[in-house]
Formats: sequence, C-alpha cells, structure tokens
Amino acid sequence: MSELDKYIDKNKNRFLEELKEFLRIPSVSNEEKHADDVKKAANWLRDKLADVGMENIKIYETDGHPIVYADHLHAGNDKPVILVYGHYDVQPVDPVELWNAPPFEPVVKDGKIYARGSADDKGQIYIHVKSLEAHLNTNKKLPVNIKVIFEGEEEIGSPNLGKFILNNKELLKSDYVVISDTSMYEKGLPSICYGLRGLCFMQVEVTGPNRDLHSGTYGGGVDNPINALAKLINQLKDNDGKIMIDGFYDDVVKLAKKERDEFARLPFDEKKYMKELEVDGLFGEKGYTTIERVSARPTLDCNGIWGGYQGQGAKTVLPSVAGAKISMRLVPNQNPEKIAELFEKYIKKIAPKSVKVKVTYLHGGMPSVTAIDTPAIKAAVKALKNAFGVEPVYFKEGGSIPIVNTFKEVLGADAILLGFGLSDDNIHSPNEKFDLENFYKGISTVTNYYEELSKI
Ligand code: BES
Ligand code: MN
Ligand code: MN
Repeated sequence: MSELDKYIDKNKNRFLEELKEFLRIPSVSNEEKHADDVKKAANWLRDKLADVGMENIKIYETDGHPIVYADHLHAGNDKPVILVYGHYDVQPVDPVELWNAPPFEPVVKDGKIYARGSADDKGQIYIHVKSLEAHLNTNKKLPVNIKVIFEGEEEIGSPNLGKFILNNKELLKSDYVVISDTSMYEKGLPSICYGLRGLCFMQVEVTGPNRDLHSGTYGGGVDNPINALAKLINQLKDNDGKIMIDGFYDDVVKLAKKERDEFARLPFDEKKYMKELEVDGLFGEKGYTTIERVSARPTLDCNGIWGGYQGQGAKTVLPSVAGAKISMRLVPNQNPEKIAELFEKYIKKIAPKSVKVKVTYLHGGMPSVTAIDTPAIKAAVKALKNAFGVEPVYFKEGGSIPIVNTFKEVLGADAILLGFGLSDDNIHSPNEKFDLENFYKGISTVTNYYEELSKI
C-alpha cells in the first residue's frame, strides 16, 4: 500500500464523519427558504479547504449563490494546472414522504450513505478535498498545480458561473478541468465518461377561459386547456420515439459506426434493466439501442404537468389554465437556443385558436465531448486501473453539466469526467445514496490521478 493509501485508510472514519456533516446542510439551490443553508455549505467548504492547507481561499458572491475558490500552485511551471470543478448545491427533496429517513440526516446502511446530495455532488467533491488533504499531509505538497472551484447553482443551470468564468479568465486559467459529478458504468467497473448531453428546458402554459368554469354548464362549448395541452404534447414525439419538431435533427452529428460498435461492446442486460425499473417494456427512438438512446441520441421528456383539480375525490371543473415543463437532451452539434426557437415555432404552429399558448425558455446548456486520446484521459485510465484493478471502459452519459462547454470555450480546457456515482444512486430522487466503497476508492483514484497528471 502506498503512503497515500495508508493515510486514506487510517483516516477513513473521520472522512465519513465530515461528509455526514456536509450532508446535514440542506443546500437546496432552487428554494428561497434554503438560501442561508446554501451559504452555510459554501462557508463549510471554505473552512475544510483551509483545514487541508489550500491557499487563496475565497468566497465570491454572485447575483445568486456564492462560488468557492481555492488554489495550491507550488508544483512548478512545468507541471499542469488542474481546475477541479464541482457543485455543493443539491436538488429539492420532494416527494419527501418517499424517503426512508429524513433527507438531511445521513444514514449509513449496507456500505452506502443515504442523504440528498450524497452522490450528486457533495460526496464526489469531498473526494477531491480529501485527496488534497492526503497529499498535503503526507508530502506537504501537491504533484500538480491545483485550483478548485465549487459552485452553488449547478442544479439550477449555473446562471452566474458563465459570467464569472468570463470575468476571471486569469484566475481560472488551467490546462484541464477535472469533474467528479457523473457515474461509473457499473459497480466495480471503473469508467471514463467522454461525453455529456446538452439541455434545453422549456415551459408551456395553455390558457383557455378567463376563469375556472363548471364543466357541465360550459363543457363541450369551450376548449379545455388540459385537453389542448395533452394534444400538443402528443404531437412532440411520434410512436417511433422520433421528435416531430421541424428541424430538430438538422444539426445532429450522425453516430459513427466505430462508436456504435464500442457501445455495443459495453455490458448491458436489457432484462435486468427492465427488472430493476419494474417496467414490462422499453420505449425509445426506433433504430437505436438503449445505450445509444440514453446517452448519444437527443430526446424529449415531459418533466411536470399541471392543471385543474388534483385534490381528493371529484370536482367538475373546466380549468382556466394548464401547463407543462418539457426538456430536451441534446447531442453534438445541437444548440439549446436554436432548439428553443424551433420548439416555440412548432408549438405555435400546431396550437389551436381556441386557447392561448405561452412558451418560455427556462435554461439550457451545450453538449460536450472530450477526445479520448487526450493525455489527461490516459492518465485517468492509469489511476482508475490502479485503484480498481480493472481496465476502465469508455462511455457517454445522458445527463448534463452545462458549464463544461464554457470551460472549453473560455479557458480552452478539456474536461475529464471522473465520476464515482452509480446509476441506481437515486440522484434527484428519494433515497439518494452514495456507495462508500466508491467514496474511498474515489479518494484513492483521485489522489493517484493527481500524481499521474504530473507525468503528462
Ligand atoms: N450530476 C448531474 C449531471 C449528471 C447526471 C451527469 C447523471 C451524468 C449522469 C448534474 O448535477 C445535473 O443534475 N444536471 C442537470 C442539469 C442542470 C442544468 C439542472 C441534469 O442533467 O438534468
Ligand atoms: Mn451533479
Ligand atoms: Mn444533479
């Protein structure tokens, strides 16, 4: 065992206790009532970065939630500068009644820690903080120059980080960005994620009569916004899972045969997948495999829908308004703003005169890919192999981290997505968890990765 691994092993219980402390802070970024908790999480991280010996620690206020920055730049000019990015904000907890334990009271069970934010992304950013500690305590130095930036607004689309990066190019100047905010392909199978989908998030509001009406008195004579909305949604995707918005696929880069062959080689058991989700059938774009559908092809989903009476029993009402939240996952070279325009144009084209339709673009992000022959990826392969004893696989993830593309565009830095989550971690869902073996192996991998990066 290396000195670093010995250090990690000796301190693992303390690392876990600290992570629990972090998880107890309900830093939900999209709820006003948690604004102070988000601030508290930022301050907590600042203190932890100070404890491990990072320098130039600063909290930058934004128009929203703060950004935490720190660096340690003493590895020498011949060593790369690595920017570690992650987010300390978390998703809301609802439906809270489906949690087996309160979401902000972490519970360890069967080698997993259950709490909101455990995998996405507090557990994963803490992997980096503890890797820095392992180096700084064992060797009094870092093998590479490190800058860390942790934001508190990733889950709401990073509305202020883009501007911050643009205004602080010198501060953030780096060769590579390392992000632990994705998953491993499978437990025990270390993985390199080389692509993320982009996102275009829309809201559609349909208004009919100026007030809720008695559905007996008016029903049949006035269009019902819920019925009208359902028809609109029904025209977004056909029975083959193809998106019907005019021009939607125009910019999509066709999947190369070589890449499709690689996807086909990834272990995937469709029966197990269905069993785990308790579904009797799958649905997706015709002509593509499930792996391709969820990671390398664009898609569209309704994320929320409302209108009319939702309480107990019946109420004969013809509602005045109905609405839906609809998101599209994008792939290279689609652009969220362009897709938002196409979406709005299409909805306006198919909307009936009997209702008013309002379309709003909520937020979006560009897709991203990292070339797998990048030296920093090769170094990651070595570190993963050292920690897990197995050759890693390459795959793409269907989720989105919109700021990745900004790092590339503004700083010219490629992103290395070194994730330790698992697909069944229930991120964004009740009973979110993080596998503790992945937490500790993650620390070991990242500690070693910093060393491997010093050799590139
Ligand atoms: N960590 C996730 C992104 C992710 C999830 C990557 C699963 C790979 C696999 C991130 O925190 C997230 O949830 N992103 C949002 C987008 C954001 C703009 C709200 C997403 O993908 O929905
Ligand atoms: Mn995340
Ligand atoms: Mn998330």
